[in-house]
Amino acid sequence: MSQTLYIPTDFANKFRNLLSLPQNEQQAAAAAFWSNTDFSFTEEWNSRFGPNSLFDAWTCCSLMQNIYTSNALILKSWLSKRRGWRVIEIGGGNGALWSHVLSPQDEGELIVIDPVPEVHKQVSQRLPAGVKFIPIQAPVETVTLSEADAVVCSLTLHHLAGIDTCERSKHGLTGSGKLEVLSQIAQALKPRMGLAILNESDMYSDLDLPPNDPVLVDHLLEAYVRRVGLSLFLDAEALVNDPKNLIPRWYAIIHQWCVGQVFKAHVPIAERDVYELNLSRWLEVLRRAGLTVIEWKCTDNFGLFYRYLLKPSLEDNVNLNQV
Ligand SMILES: C[S@@+](CC[C@H](N)C(=O)[O-])C[C@H]1O[C@@H](n2cnc3c(N)ncnc32)[C@H](O)[C@@H]1O
Repeated sequence: MSQTLYIPTDFANKFRNLLSLPQNEQQAAAAAFWSNTDFSFTEEWNSRFGPNSLFDAWTCCSLMQNIYTSNALILKSWLSKRRGWRVIEIGGGNGALWSHVLSPQDEGELIVIDPVPEVHKQVSQRLPAGVKFIPIQAPVETVTLSEADAVVCSLTLHHLAGIDTCERSKHGLTGSGKLEVLSQIAQALKPRMGLAILNESDMYSDLDLPPNDPVLVDHLLEAYVRRVGLSLFLDAEALVNDPKNLIPRWYAIIHQWCVGQVFKAHVPIAERDVYELNLSRWLEVLRRAGLTVIEWKCTDNFGLFYRYLLKPSLEDNVNLNQV
């Protein structure tokens, strides 16, 4: 059920003012912006995926549309050469990618791994009749991947804290980190010499930065407020007609998620929610996982989201123990 939305008074001016402040004043200003903006909007970000949700509006913003169109270009061409293809998607969201990739006549198999039941419902509704849908309702780190022609992992791995098990254990966390999941992706691709697409931001907020670290605060401000927030804000300013009611939902995302993320710098490490890596660390962990990066490129004008095209490395250079 969608909520009634209204735009708080002077939202645009207040956010513009926040962005124009000297960077060392923005943390305090973000806190004031958060508490002084009356948004009486209770839908939690990233928890609902249906039509009219905040996530639905997020998938319509230019940052995400750029990701979907650039991923679709690669996937369409790759899958057209593979009859009876099997694709694994890790973290399905609302399935928006598949509306860009698949045509009514397409046939294949899509396995979606995601712990949220609503995600599977949303993705299945986007698929043509000839695509068999296999939902796996679980976190990827608990799943053994089957062989595949392609694996797509877009803006999902940053939810998994730590580069690897070893780094996680130093912070009292058990189980797999990013490396172990990426190694599984490499193994899943090998039998069919498949292709993987990884989309992630170039921003560091992983376990090395402890709660309250000013560097962590600044990285979160930079990525979520100065880049994602600005991009959403400019999208809203550029929209002349808004039949989908995107502008209030984009503003709600700026308020709840972009500005709200800055406060995650002060919560216990296990509650941070986003554990991002910068470009050089992604390249290193991909190499260690046995994945060769064929190409990496930024998909937006903000230097934020990168798309990595990956193939399994021919030599067996997986090194799960290297710190
Ligand atoms: C930011 S959304 C990205 C969705 C989609 N890939 C896209 O680009 O639009 C992150 C997705 O990852 C899922 N997710 C979060 N943690 C996960 C985990 N440990 N394993 C698998 N999926 C996860 C969420 O439920 C959500 O669907």
